[in-house]
Amino acid sequence: MIELKSGSELEILRENATILGSILDKVVKRVKPGVTTISLDEYAEQLIVEADGKPAFKNYRGYPSSLCTSINEEIVHGIPSERTVYDGDVLSLDVGIERRGFFADFATTVTVGEISSQAKDLVSVTNEALSVGLEQVCPGNRIGDISHAIGSFVEERGFYVVKEFVGHGIGRNMHEDPQIPNYGEPNTGKRIKKGMVFCIEPMVKMDDKSTVVLDDGWTAVPADGGLSAHFEGMVAATSDGPEVLVRGGS
Ligand code: MF3
Ligand code: CO
Repeated sequence: MIELKSGSELEILRENATILGSILDKVVKRVKPGVTTISLDEYAEQLIVEADGKPAFKNYRGYPSSLCTSINEEIVHGIPSERTVYDGDVLSLDVGIERRGFFADFATTVTVGEISSQAKDLVSVTNEALSVGLEQVCPGNRIGDISHAIGSFVEERGFYVVKEFVGHGIGRNMHEDPQIPNYGEPNTGKRIKKGMVFCIEPMVKMDDKSTVVLDDGWTAVPADGGLSAHFEGMVAATSDGPEVLVRGGS
């Protein structure tokens, strides 16, 4: 069942999203060649706690960290470690907070120093794919309209969406109904109603490979590698259309 949020619930979700946005902004400012991903994780956790929140990812199904740091071919759920970020890396940062009984969750992809023009293209297409998905979150549309908008946009630009992971509803739980795949048929799925709040999260890869999870039990990569990018935004369906609560990219 897809929960409809009241005005006061939406108010808390909006506040959490804004706080999480400024937290990730601060973390992104620390991304430079030589920084370890564990130091980014520690900083994110400190900022979350300072905002009277709890790291939403930590201990979620055994996940060990507050941040997901997915580098280059890693699609999502990369675990922070002593690994350092290098010039030319493509780094996805995903963060979540629980605060006042509600969650916020979003992600961005940043590039470090000089990257190839193909990598630039991949990142900007993924960012734009999030925009086209968010635009569909209008009462009266259906979930398949979001999925189709993202999938067709990415495919037309010569990249591939990851099919094994999905966007989701969010509220008192980090993951609520519905699941929102990044590919699908228009005019299918549940009808979007005012008060629904979703996380839309296109994951895009260079090559048409399936996704495998590494031995750490979390890090998702395309089989045989290939660069990938991930952006996530939180959006509420309102009578005026989509209200973006927070998003990665622009
Ligand atoms: N943004 C991701 C999601 O929505 C983050 C989950 S990481 C986890 O699923 F560790 F908490 F699973
Ligand atoms: Co999410």
